[in-house]
Amino acid sequence: MAKPVTRIFDTEDKLVKGFTAYFCKLLNKKNGGFNVALSGGSTPKIWLEYLSNLKETIINWKRIHLFWGDERCVPPDHVDSNYGMTKSCLLDQIDIPKKNVHRIKGELDPGKAATAYARELRDHLPHGEVPTFDLIILGMGDDGHTASIFPYEIDLWNFDENCVVATHPVSGQKRVSFTGRVINNAHSVAFLINGRNKAQKVKEIINNESNASNYPASLVKPYKGELFWFLDADAASRLRNDQ
Ligand code: 6PG
Repeated sequence: MAKPVTRIFDTEDKLVKGFTAYFCKLLNKKNGGFNVALSGGSTPKIWLEYLSNLKETIINWKRIHLFWGDERCVPPDHVDSNYGMTKSCLLDQIDIPKKNVHRIKGELDPGKAATAYARELRDHLPHGEVPTFDLIILGMGDDGHTASIFPYEIDLWNFDENCVVATHPVSGQKRVSFTGRVINNAHSVAFLINGRNKAQKVKEIINNESNASNYPASLVKPYKGELFWFLDADAASRLRNDQ
């Protein structure tokens, strides 16, 4: 695996602008379709809102296929839905073909939703046994979870399917999530993280400290692809103190 690249930005605004420049660079480097998996959470939300204001001349949405790395098992119009958040922040403001939007059907029984999404990945992505994304965008919880793989059930990361049903440790809410092999099979993986509450885990993982292996986010090690950490100053604050 290539050495992870860490990009630190003074403010949230500069973070989303910097991440957008990276996203456009990847998009322009590739011919044809571009398959990206989005994340839920507050940081990606800020980015999606920024994207929605960009002119279509900068991002040609007709080339882009949107997927999600995880989804809460709720209907698409539920307040918790990652798809629903993306729809209101971005999809309703851009001209993207409906066939390019591949949501996880959170309204289904969780097991059925996971099976159906694995089929969606197989039908729409280049892959051998494991689908290959051009880019997977991840957030990280302050407990070190990523996608919907939580520390207490970190074994789901190595589950030998592409999609798995996870359970939120506090709410008990069922989630559908990519497993580690899909995430690590991507050409590019990028964490998009802001906030001081993430700083400790970011430091432990990037510095490969002894506790890091307890956190699913530390298992993001693309087999052949690149890994970027896009951080605001708060999320990187402990890194800076140590460097
Ligand atoms: C989700 C996300 C999850 C999220 C982290 C960080 O569905 O909740 O996929 O992995 O990215 O919990 O969320 P915040 O950015 O809101 O802290």
